[in-house]
Amino acid sequence: MPEDRLTVLTILERSEQYFRGSGLDSPRLDAEVLLAFVLGITRMKLYTGFDRPLVPDEVSAFRQLVRRRADRVPVAYITGKKEFHSLDFAVDERVLIPRPETEHLVDAAVELAGNLDAPSLLDIGTGSGAIAVAFASVRATARFTATDLSPDALAVARCNAEAHGVAERGEFLEGDLYGPVVESARFDLIVSNPPYVAPDEEVDPECRKEPALALFTGEDPVLIYRRLLEGAPAHLAVGGYVLLEIAENREEEIRAAAPPELEVVRVILDFGGHPRVLVAKVTGT
Ligand SMILES: C[S@@+](CC[C@H](N)C(=O)[O-])C[C@H]1O[C@@H](n2cnc3c(N)ncnc32)[C@H](O)[C@@H]1O
Repeated sequence: MPEDRLTVLTILERSEQYFRGSGLDSPRLDAEVLLAFVLGITRMKLYTGFDRPLVPDEVSAFRQLVRRRADRVPVAYITGKKEFHSLDFAVDERVLIPRPETEHLVDAAVELAGNLDAPSLLDIGTGSGAIAVAFASVRATARFTATDLSPDALAVARCNAEAHGVAERGEFLEGDLYGPVVESARFDLIVSNPPYVAPDEEVDPECRKEPALALFTGEDPVLIYRRLLEGAPAHLAVGGYVLLEIAENREEEIRAAAPPELEVVRVILDFGGHPRVLVAKVTGT
């Protein structure tokens, strides 16, 4: 079929086939999302216009995206956005793409903030700002501090906070874990989804496009948890909680890394039934 006669349906079928051959997990879905993105319509709208012929500019724009996807660039980086906790987050190669399992952490933080008038939250390793921004969007009086070792990530987090109207209640600090946080600062909640993939673990080719700093631990995969847990009591308000997303196979080691001033009160399972969020409460004053 000549290029100028390609329809929505034919181009979807061809790219689905091409994606399948490239080893993608969801070839049809990816093709639909990318075509809808190029056409500036919803995925559902594609279904009512299967016979619509595409103009050459649309075909060539779509083909460029198809090539990137076949090169295992995640769909979210191509479209520049990812939905998290019912909000659209801008994402690009500077940040980890927020994952659905991290929504458990946000939900638990919202629950633990209970009826505090103006809960304060410290998000360590904020990346796209997903956790802090989602929390502050639910709790309209919350204040947050978001830190990251990566200034590039912090720039993305700030944009997302601005886009969702919560930036004026937050601060963004560059540095290692608690390093950039004022020594006397205390928070009702400390949250973190630190890098937790061991360097020798196999990951999808898509993950290789994400920042290594966001994904991979050093030689000791528990070290960052030990540092997060040991540093927490000095920055928790009375009765405060620390919530950490954890690697499913390291629950025991991470529990054991908690200092005596913290009591592990709960481990939340993810959608797959794996231990995913560790919740500890400060016991001292
Ligand atoms: C797994 S990503 C989490 C991003 C985001 N919080 C989320 O849940 O989608 C980990 C983040 O921690 C940051 N990071 C890694 N090591 C760090 C450190 N020592 N101190 C502060 N941030 C760090 C990375 O740059 C990355 O943005």
